[in-house]
Amino acid sequence: MTGGAGFLGSHIVDALLAQGDDVVVVDDLSTGDRANLDPRADLRIADISDLSALQRELGTHRVDAVVHCAAKTKVVESMAKPELYERVIVGGTRNVLETTRRLGARVVVNISTGGAIYGETPVCADENVPVDPQSNYGRFKAAAEKLVESSDLRAVTLRLANIYGPRQRTDLEGGVIAIFLGCWKRGEPLTMFGDGSYERDYVYIADVVEAVTTALGGTHAGTFNIGTGIATSVKQLLSSLSAILGPPPSIRAAPARPAEVLRACVNPTKAAREGLWHPKTALLEGLRLTAAAEGVLLS
Ligand SMILES: NC(=O)c1ccc[n+]([C@@H]2O[C@H](COP(=O)([O-])OP(=O)(O)OC[C@H]3O[C@@H](n4cnc5c(N)ncnc54)[C@H](O)[C@@H]3O)[C@@H](O)[C@H]2O)c1
Repeated sequence: MTGGAGFLGSHIVDALLAQGDDVVVVDDLSTGDRANLDPRADLRIADISDLSALQRELGTHRVDAVVHCAAKTKVVESMAKPELYERVIVGGTRNVLETTRRLGARVVVNISTGGAIYGETPVCADENVPVDPQSNYGRFKAAAEKLVESSDLRAVTLRLANIYGPRQRTDLEGGVIAIFLGCWKRGEPLTMFGDGSYERDYVYIADVVEAVTTALGGTHAGTFNIGTGIATSVKQLLSSLSAILGPPPSIRAAPARPAEVLRACVNPTKAAREGLWHPKTALLEGLRLTAAAEGVLLS
């Protein structure tokens, strides 16, 4: 498991441990946190873009399967630091694939992005829509997908919509739900970029984890969208949060951010049709679960 100390990765680790798997995590702790990680997971601190460090840490360990989750994930930062993003996302994926083969794994589940890879999606994109990434982050994730596709392993690429749920970082960029909940908790103003009409497809973390564990255990191969097929604007999100938590502290307007698409939404029909996955948690329910877990909503 790469990136297992991060938001998504640590939830995947929890699910794998719960089903009785032994889990080795490779993470450089650059955005992940040791505190996220169940101590039963075997943490090896290494940068995936450094092949010799990966080989040193993993040695001759045998593994059955690899979940590749580690990445730099910030759209705006990727525009300022393209070399870093290419090295970690493209170079790192190449190294992870080479290491996966060397360690004898038969399957790799590659965590990709639907939100940043399709570009503008006036209609929620299915997997046949040509990719049109608007940021370096999306561009390099698309290049990493190609590497995974051309490997000789059983490979499943999951193009995830915007994930939300407990443990998501409230600082840095991204994770608007976590950021808003953090503001609510601290009584600080919420920042609204642009006019709040940006739409995203928000998928609950537990649903995403189920897609990963099913992909690991099954026989599927190829690329699947993992999202709800429902686009929600920031304004709608605020009104759903307000319905659960009461009115927000206050709202501060800020200019629209570069490399933002207006509407990012994925169509998850293929995953359902092929018996891999379907979304289960409605947004209001997921928001309630997240707010309760983060101590914003006292249940
Ligand atoms: N959060 C979302 O909404 C979302 C949406 C679509 C796709 N994704 C994808 O999900 C994956 C996990 O994202 P997340 O939101 O949990 O972010 P995160 O930052 O919490 O997790 C990324 C993890 O990778 C580790 N990492 C980063 N660079 C590394 C390197 N060079 N070597 C080793 N470890 C490294 C970090 O320390 C961290 O633990 C990423 O691949 C991301 O592209 C996330």
